[in-house]
Amino acid sequence: MSGMFGERRDAPKHKSVEWYTPGWIFDALGLHFDTDPASPHDMETCVPAHTKYTVFDDGLKQPWRGRVWLNPPYGPTTPQWIRRFIDHGRGIALVFSRTDAAWCQEALRSATAVLFVAGRIEFIPGKENAHKKARAGAGTLMLAFGDDCAEALQRLSACGVFMRGARPEATSTALALEAA
Ligand SMILES: C[S@@+](CC[C@H](N)C(=O)[O-])C[C@H]1O[C@@H](n2cnc3c(N)ncnc32)[C@H](O)[C@@H]1O
Repeated sequence: MSGMFGERRDAPKHKSVEWYTPGWIFDALGLHFDTDPASPHDMETCVPAHTKYTVFDDGLKQPWRGRVWLNPPYGPTTPQWIRRFIDHGRGIALVFSRTDAAWCQEALRSATAVLFVAGRIEFIPGKENAHKKARAGAGTLMLAFGDDCAEALQRLSACGVFMRGARPEATSTALALEAA
């Protein structure tokens, strides 16, 4: 786990991923997380997590323990993060609402509960984005894995469309189609 917040010139960062989750989301969830595998190396975030991995640790190569908070870097590695999260099976992920993407379809099929957030969340800019408008360029989808996380996500249900048991519904739809 990296504990450094000083400047590092060689930081392999991409400005586009340096947007952080606002604290009101964690206040509403009322959960503490064991692991945040994708965290900035030069700034403390609002994420209430015991262990935070940064790009210097490479969170994809680290053990993920317990309840995980995941707001992954967006780009070519997003599918890897989401598939690792699905395999882990416990936590809450916040992602761009790319419901047509294969990684998103997989996550929707596997989640205990999902929340399609209404409107656009104002994320907290990282140091390199401080001068920019903080509103996201796309909608947000939150995915809960595990009953405790689904219950917590339900506390945010006024913020959008909350659905429980995406997995059983997907299964029953598939069965109905097979039977037809
Ligand atoms: C969208 S931000 C989310 C930050 C924080 N988890 C939150 O929810 O506010 C994604 C973060 O992952 C970091 N990151 C990028 N690649 C990483 C890697 N391989 N391992 C760990 N963190 C990484 C980025 O530097 C960025 O700070």
